Amino acid sequence: MKALVTGISGFVGSHMAEYLLGNNVEVFGTTRHRSRMDHIRHLTKDLNLVECELRDPFSVENLIKSAKPDLIFHLAAQSFVPTSWNSPMDTISNNISGQINIFEAVRKLDLDCKIQVACSSEEYGHVEPHEVPIKETNPLRPLSPYAVSKVAQDYLGYQYHQSYGLHAVITRTFNHTGPRRGENFVTSNFSKQIAQIEKGLQPPVLYVGNLSAKRDFTDVRDVVKAYWLALEKGEPGVSYNIASGFCVTIKEMLDLLLSYSQVEIEVKTDPSRLRPSDVEILLGDYQKFHQQTGWKPEIPFEQTMEDLLNYWRARV
Ligand code: GDD
Repeated sequence: MKALVTGISGFVGSHMAEYLLGNNVEVFGTTRHRSRMDHIRHLTKDLNLVECELRDPFSVENLIKSAKPDLIFHLAAQSFVPTSWNSPMDTISNNISGQINIFEAVRKLDLDCKIQVACSSEEYGHVEPHEVPIKETNPLRPLSPYAVSKVAQDYLGYQYHQSYGLHAVITRTFNHTGPRRGENFVTSNFSKQIAQIEKGLQPPVLYVGNLSAKRDFTDVRDVVKAYWLALEKGEPGVSYNIASGFCVTIKEMLDLLLSYSQVEIEVKTDPSRLRPSDVEILLGDYQKFHQQTGWKPEIPFEQTMEDLLNYWRARV
């Protein structure tokens, strides 16, 4: 069994690579000349790394022609919501063109290959109070260019399945975190600030944005198992929620992190961290995916957050 992981050097990509290698799968991964390799350095001797620009159809076709994967986990994306307001065209063109180039290469080469498309709960965007927990049938009301790009990727998965019979399985993953989470994302950002304050590298003031938003967090190590099962047991052309089924406010998540620290810390709002429009609540119903695959989240949120804080304590 051969698997290709796009964005293998990223947060989810590195966990996906570990999971696949642990299951005796031969792993190919895409990197770019500017990729940081810290997350996969411990794995490099076991991986087939290929420099590939996913926006470039020739680069993608060559990659897929030479790797001939049985499975593709398409994780690479511009995935930080605020960046998508600063550079909407870049986010949309990057996320959509990578997807199309992969689909077109698999189609052209007539490969018998299953493709997981990493989509997002951000696609639901504005959610009415009576619509939670959110099911896959909920209307999509995206509130950022990033979310729009994920709606497009999601519908491309549906369309390529309907038009050409491509085996694309769409995962709408709610927030996920754990060790190696990029430092811009809220759980990592707060953990890193606490770790820096504990070491005296930052005054005891922790900067935050909107603390009232509610998010449904799953551990990344549970998420990569879900992606594996999505290709093993998921239906092509179908979208599935991957979620924990409970949510916390960002303030509750922060209070949990602060409870793991002995240091006295003041919390201050940094207006530059507020967004033009924030998704107020994301709480997912993952029953459809559970019924199809048997998956359920296993790692408790408290464990995930403690592991993340300890990751930053070891790093700063
Ligand atoms: N990043 C950040 N930094 N977010 C903050 C901060 C802060 O200092 N303070 C409060 N927040 C709030 C944001 O306004 C948002 O409501 C929430 O914390 C989560 O922010 P992020 O961690 O940046 O994630 P996201 O919810 O915007 O998007 C993540 O989840 C999606 C799935 O729902 C990303 O991982 C996306 O790529 C993913 O698709």
